[in-house]
Amino acid sequence: MTAELEILRPDDWHLHLRDGAMLAAVAPHSTWARRAIIMPNLDPPVTTSAEAAAYQHRIRRALPRGSDFTPLMTLYLTERTDPADLAAGVETGIVTAAKLYPAGATTNSARGVRDLDAIMPVLERMADLGVPLCTHGEVTAPEVDIFDREAVFIERVLAPLRQRLPELKVVMEHVTTAEGVDYVRESAPGIGATITVQHLMLNRNALLAGGIRPHYYCLPVLKRERHRQALRRAATSGHARFFLGTDSAPHLRGAKEAPCGCAGCFTAPVALPCLAHVFEEEGALDRLEAFASRNGPAFYGLAPNPDRLRLQKTRSPMRPPSSIQTPEGPVEVFDPGVALYWQMEPAYA
Ligand code: DOR
Ligand code: ZN
Repeated sequence: MTAELEILRPDDWHLHLRDGAMLAAVAPHSTWARRAIIMPNLDPPVTTSAEAAAYQHRIRRALPRGSDFTPLMTLYLTERTDPADLAAGVETGIVTAAKLYPAGATTNSARGVRDLDAIMPVLERMADLGVPLCTHGEVTAPEVDIFDREAVFIERVLAPLRQRLPELKVVMEHVTTAEGVDYVRESAPGIGATITVQHLMLNRNALLAGGIRPHYYCLPVLKRERHRQALRRAATSGHARFFLGTDSAPHLRGAKEAPCGCAGCFTAPVALPCLAHVFEEEGALDRLEAFASRNGPAFYGLAPNPDRLRLQKTRSPMRPPSSIQTPEGPVEVFDPGVALYWQMEPAYA
């Protein structure tokens, strides 16, 4: 028996496409999305509107011929971000959002923000313009346990910021905890959260029990099962302020299988089959469209996509490649650890 599911074409509200040879290798795997919020944590990061425009051009050149994928660009906030430059980027349509990386929180975040006061003028300007602030919501204070960093970020950074500047739209990127989910649910509109595929599918045992599995290491790190359950309830609830952001974050195999391995899961090729699997398990296939295709654009003030994507449930499991090749070496594709039966029709990439 083949079941079919048709949903409005999804978007990806949190995506790392990298640059150069890696960009060319990974970009085609995200073209199931009509639009994606592109993360600016290149090395060096994308900090000005001119850099965002140049990066957008490089992304477009890396796409398969005829692809309608639209990269929505973000600026990497630093303590020297010029509010006028950001406003000009918004005005010309180059800049959709700006990203707050607490300095040291994750990949290429060294030039991120140490002192929130230093970026208040730019945040005020963003609030005036209605430009969302995307946050990597983890503190970096060394005394805070890595599993608590999200909850402490809410307490020390996010809640005070939202009190100070309630008009600022904020996205808690890759929310991973029950505390994060509750915070979004209990807050006034103006705060939303993206959820990744790996945090819906795996808990921290997948990373650490029975051997360390570096390909499941990402940031925020996978959490306990009760947090995964909270994320699944949020994603499948239909609640308008939870939406898909894959955080697909490719690294070369050698950079992950290393004494100090990089954080990130390359989920783009299997993100939709994984999501359909999760929503079916939760008896919520009828809410997949809200999570993947409707809630994100509504939060960003954009129209949903006019076209549709079809998923077919097949008798035999799909066989995604275990890795893709790049001129610099292989990149492992996220392995959800279960057989996947929902396939995109047509296949993308
Ligand atoms: O796992 C992650 N990888 N989390 C991030 O915040 C950054 C990302 C990356 O760029 O590799
Ligand atoms: Zn990310």
